[in-house]
Amino acid sequence: MKPINVGLLGIGTVGGGVFSVLERNADEIARRAGREIRIAVVADRDVERARRFTNGSVKVTDDAMSVTRDPDVDIVVELIGGYGVAKDLALSAIENGKHVVTANKALLAVHGNEIFAAARRRDVMVAFEAAVAGGIPIIKALREGLSANRIEWVAGIINGTTNFILSEMRDKGLPFAEVLKEAQRLGYAEADPTFDVEGVDAAHKATIMSAIAFGIPMQFDKAHVEGISRLESVDIAYAGQLGYRIKLLGIARKRPEGIELRVHPALVHASRLLANVEGAMNAVLVQGDAVGSTLYYGKGAGAEPTASAVIADLVDITRLHTADPEHRVPHLAFQPDKVLDVPVLPIGETVTAFYMRMRVQDKPGVLADITRILADSDISIDAMVQREAGEGESQTDIILLTHQTIEKNAVSAIGRIEALDSVQGKVTKLRLETL
Ligand code: NDP
Ligand code: HSE
Repeated sequence: MKPINVGLLGIGTVGGGVFSVLERNADEIARRAGREIRIAVVADRDVERARRFTNGSVKVTDDAMSVTRDPDVDIVVELIGGYGVAKDLALSAIENGKHVVTANKALLAVHGNEIFAAARRRDVMVAFEAAVAGGIPIIKALREGLSANRIEWVAGIINGTTNFILSEMRDKGLPFAEVLKEAQRLGYAEADPTFDVEGVDAAHKATIMSAIAFGIPMQFDKAHVEGISRLESVDIAYAGQLGYRIKLLGIARKRPEGIELRVHPALVHASRLLANVEGAMNAVLVQGDAVGSTLYYGKGAGAEPTASAVIADLVDITRLHTADPEHRVPHLAFQPDKVLDVPVLPIGETVTAFYMRMRVQDKPGVLADITRILADSDISIDAMVQREAGEGESQTDIILLTHQTIEKNAVSAIGRIEALDSVQGKVTKLRLETL
């Protein structure tokens, strides 16, 4: 059978990985796909680098748009990144009747609804396994493996860069900026690393998972997004003393009132598997009503782990592209006319436990005032630590862990605590996830 022809847009970290793995494992991949998957053309801004990388074995161009119109190309693989040119290229490929594979979570979280609608109109597939958790086949698991279930929640460490930073800071005491540089050198970080550090990349991925898990549209603009840049090392240390680790989590949870969609640092008990996911590794926990809890773990970033997912999509498309479009797996797992407009809840409606750290005057009655405010707000305390004041110190830290409460309750109680004369400055609040 004649090979299926791929147009590769962008031969950077992931594109380079796709090229190498396709070349190295060509026979094994063809045995699975039923025919050879061949890169026919590569487009990259830097044609000289692309030529050197591909060793003159394929056509190279700097005109990515021409590849989306090339009649010899069956599948366009978009590995350029970002929302701008990548969107135009994906839409042009679709309009020209090409299937599209992308690792671009930013593009799908922000413009996915439009892109999938265009793909349906033209009866082409848009595959995106690499867009969430790199090499872990979480899209396949959610969309196909767990299709019997009502998914209750999905929670995971879905950004390798921030997990790498948190692990290295905790274990080696290295400064934030130094570890971020290393993550960039290793090819984990986004072109704009603030996307990693500020939780935006994880929110893109959580948005995609929420759509597939619950059959809702992409609603990235409704996600609550907090990164790790304001996290203080004192909180990592106190959390450790209480038996917890701090991880940047992406969470999508279905509640009767709507969907929680949020990314933020959270305390996870050190005994939980998720707390022990270190470095650039990713892990996603999925809770289904029938299957219970399932955990997916692996490399969430880097050239070849991500290439593994991109090529799996190429194999899927090669197997399925002659199938009647009605009989393909729907892009977002649910039949397009069954996608529901369930609201994403404001962060104030989220239900979690909390870690609170406050600086207080070391004098009688202070703790009683604080616990009274929490009791008035119906917030129950789970654990408490008071640091022993040093000699001559008149202030100390109190750290409280609460049981679950609705976030707006916690925020209002914190406001009242901060207003106490005996409390100095702001209360640091972190969410605690029991998962
Ligand atoms: P890179 O920056 O390493 O690669 C992108 C490549 O595209 C570069 O060679 C770049 O050239 C080229 N490029 C940029 N603009 C154009 C253009 N207009 N026309 C042609 N080529 C262009 O990015 P990554 O490989 O890291 O990421 C690619 C995608 O994969 C992104 O969407 C990213 O979010 C996603 N992803 C990345 C992972 C990773 O571990 N790196 C993991 C999972 C997903 P130049 O260098 O000159 O800018
Ligand atoms: N920048 C991303 C990360 C790449 O660090 O996880 C993988 O999507």
